[in-house]
Amino acid sequence: MNIDLVRKEIPVTSRRAYFDNAGTGPPSINVLNAIHEYLADWRDYGENWEEWLPIIIDSRRLFAKIIGVGLEEVASVPNVSSALTALASSIKYKPNGNIVISELNFPTNIYLWHLQKKHGRTSEVRLLRKDQNGVVPLDEWEKAIDDDTSVVSVDYVSWTNGCREKIREITKIAHEHNAFVIADSFHGLGVFPINAKQDGVDALACGMYKWMQGPHGAAYLYTHRDKLDELDPNYIGWHGVEDSVVRRLSKQEDLFGKPFNIDDAEPALDATRFEGGSWGVVSIVGAKAALEYALKHDQQDSSMV
Ligand SMILES: Cc1ncc(COP(=O)(O)O)c(C=O)c1O
Repeated sequence: MNIDLVRKEIPVTSRRAYFDNAGTGPPSINVLNAIHEYLADWRDYGENWEEWLPIIIDSRRLFAKIIGVGLEEVASVPNVSSALTALASSIKYKPNGNIVISELNFPTNIYLWHLQKKHGRTSEVRLLRKDQNGVVPLDEWEKAIDDDTSVVSVDYVSWTNGCREKIREITKIAHEHNAFVIADSFHGLGVFPINAKQDGVDALACGMYKWMQGPHGAAYLYTHRDKLDELDPNYIGWHGVEDSVVRRLSKQEDLFGKPFNIDDAEPALDATRFEGGSWGVVSIVGAKAALEYALKHDQQDSSMV
């Protein structure tokens, strides 16, 4: 990788030594240009769903590629908090079960589970504490996870001290007890390669505005295809049904050519069941460009190895 070239592609580096990717990553020219083009198109032509919907599908496809999963396993959501909420509202909890999380998780990935207890979906939340070295040792996970564990939810890398969790090992332990594993990769993706299939997690949430250098307002939720059937969301929107406008477009049907079936609610068979209302297209345009940019450098890096 030619660092000088990369710096030219990320304008902020001409003004600053930028150290705040853990907050908000700086955009590359690719991202800025894509957003400017979208704004110009919107300014000049107004609504253009025929072009915008394929961008949403393409962005899902690129996210699927970067984490090594299938397109049908990916949903486009506004942020990580809503991705985790989507899962929490969909999981079949074990009766009198427990949920195992770490204090190194981002607060959303802690609050959400306390809330499930308040709502009676779980009897116990097991919040693991870090030791004097700032880590939760693997044997603490092992002790906490048992046959009554419904969910293990863990961040790939902690937002607070950068601790990198042993995702594969934690997942293996959780699966031995038939628990559902959720991983938040917001501080991992863009820093090191992630393959959700190899890691074995059942679901993965990731936003675009940190190490991926995309805009706020775009995130992705992966759920393993074998687990989709058992995830039954307690919410739905017109983009999360089987006969959605995006699917009509994919089948080359007229988007509004026939009425929607309002006699029933049929969640999409694929991960798009987690998509509710209209997307923030401007953010997704930027997210798509950010994914393309990351994949371009990923390929350049691997060709140099
Ligand atoms: C690991 C992690 N997950 C989630 C979030 C919050 O994500 P969002 O604002 O997309 O809900 C953060 C923000 O810092 C984070 O560090």
